[in-house]
Amino acid sequence: MDKELVINYQEFELSNLPDAADRELMQKAVEAADGAYAPYSHFHVGAALRLADGTVVCGNNQENAAYPSGLCAERTAVFAASAQRPDVQVYETLAIVGRNEKGELCEASPCGACRQVLMEYEQRQKHPLRVLCYLKNGYVRVFPSVASLLPFSFDF
Ligand code: THU
Repeated sequence: MDKELVINYQEFELSNLPDAADRELMQKAVEAADGAYAPYSHFHVGAALRLADGTVVCGNNQENAAYPSGLCAERTAVFAASAQRPDVQVYETLAIVGRNEKGELCEASPCGACRQVLMEYEQRQKHPLRVLCYLKNGYVRVFPSVASLLPFSFDF
């Protein structure tokens, strides 16, 4: 039997994001990209995670000469939040942006491993974790939950 999967998301121009807190979070992600350590890919990624108490925890990609040992910005952010703020277990929104060698903002979309990690935090908190991905040309894609980024996810 054929079935169909529908994924709901929104797109806005960054300056037109309806929620000021989302615009600020995206700006923090842009700033976080400055702290990336990406001497191999030269692709700097910034992530900013807003916790339920309004705290923002940032992350960026940290690469390593032993390539698989590096970590994406998204996991750096959520692991830092989980390690530093075990008292706040609800993560509201994660904003992600890429930056190329010229310093231009670029599209960022979480890799499969990051989606799985984010999914586990979303399932644990029993509350949607919104994900804002910077797109080309100043647009932002807003996913209402990690589940919308990772259909049929692994669970046990
Ligand atoms: N990267 C991230 O940090 N997040 C993403 O969403 C995509 C890719 C990093 C991993 C690696 O350091 C570099 O970008 C190139 O793939």
